[in-house]
Amino acid sequence: MKKSTNDRLETVYHFKNVDHPIQPIPQKIDIDKQWLLLGKALFNSTLLSKDNTISCASCHVTSTGGDDGFPVSVGVNNKVGVRNSPTVLNATFNFRQFWDGRANSLLEQASGPIHNPVEMASSWPAVITKLSKDSYFYQAFNDLSPDGITVENILLAIVTYEESLITPNAPIDQYLLGNRTALTQQQIRGLQLFIDYGCSTCHQGTNIGGNIYQKLGRINDIPKKLTQDFGKYEVTKKQVDRFVFKVPSLRNIAQTAPYFHNGSVSTLNEAVTIMASSQLGRQLSTEEVEDIVALLHSFSSKEIELE
Ligand code: HEC
Ligand code: HEC
Repeated sequence: MKKSTNDRLETVYHFKNVDHPIQPIPQKIDIDKQWLLLGKALFNSTLLSKDNTISCASCHVTSTGGDDGFPVSVGVNNKVGVRNSPTVLNATFNFRQFWDGRANSLLEQASGPIHNPVEMASSWPAVITKLSKDSYFYQAFNDLSPDGITVENILLAIVTYEESLITPNAPIDQYLLGNRTALTQQQIRGLQLFIDYGCSTCHQGTNIGGNIYQKLGRINDIPKKLTQDFGKYEVTKKQVDRFVFKVPSLRNIAQTAPYFHNGSVSTLNEAVTIMASSQLGRQLSTEEVEDIVALLHSFSSKEIELE
């Protein structure tokens, strides 16, 4: 008997809350393994792009931080975009998707790149035709849903895979869950500064970010190289939204250089120095910057669940 789409097991995360601005990533998750595997195959398939050259994984390499390592992304026909590829790891915990938060959910986000002319530049009819001619995809979709290959099912599969891309057990999580030796002395000093100076008023919660909007350059001017993109204003055209961005997650940040929405900042030391000045009006000493950067390294985890 074929299952209907609705038979997909809803993804459930088992959170363990702690008394801290930063919350650990859940170690346990219930997820539909079959939809996940189909989604993983789609995420890695170049059939989703116009000329069969680009997959989601081209710009989001899950084994090396979930981004692509370039300042801005390059799509089909080497077309260059204007924004840095954010990580897909833990994106499921973001309150909105994209730098400017223009997609409300992973589901809403996923059809964006398929149609974006500087990314995959394709269309749903073209994608469905190609997937239907592929024996693996034809079989896998029909095994999971009586509807077979549809836009809804493609998106549902990709989202299920993305929901599995979480990275628990980073040193910071082990520390928050009670292992006091999981952080070095320098990282503990960095954590104290991160809280005392107010980084955690914006970068907090499960994703150490990803749950509010904030203005870039809230207190002091930002470097000129960051002033070309108006962030949320590009979507709403409202003055109050100029330079407003989703506060990005700092999970796995040590693996996702270069930094900021246009990838114009190459090191964490520079990123932290800019943040302290533009967002908090503070000039940090070299030692303070180094302590915070050491802390940022504790936000990385090698574990990706259920791949
Ligand atoms: C050509 C490179 C490229 C391809 C291909 C691509 N992406 Fe992206 N992705 C990006 C860039 C750049 C952004 C940020 C764009 C923005 O914020 O305006 C992004 C943003 C995202 C986000 C939002 C993450 C966040 O924290 O806001 C998710 C999730 C995502 N992509 C998933 C996918 C999926 C799924 C596919 C395949 C269907 C895909 N991407 C294909 C470059 C790419
Ligand atoms: C008022 C809110 C706010 C505060 C306070 C703040 N940040 Fe940020 N942070 C942001 C926003 C918004 C961005 C995205 C900016 C962009 O790319 O345009 C960001 C980006 C970053 C990035 C780059 C992320 C990436 O994926 O490229 C790092 C690293 C960072 N912040 C660290 C810190 C540290 C460390 C502190 C404390 C010294 C701090 N932030 C304080 C809002 C804040």
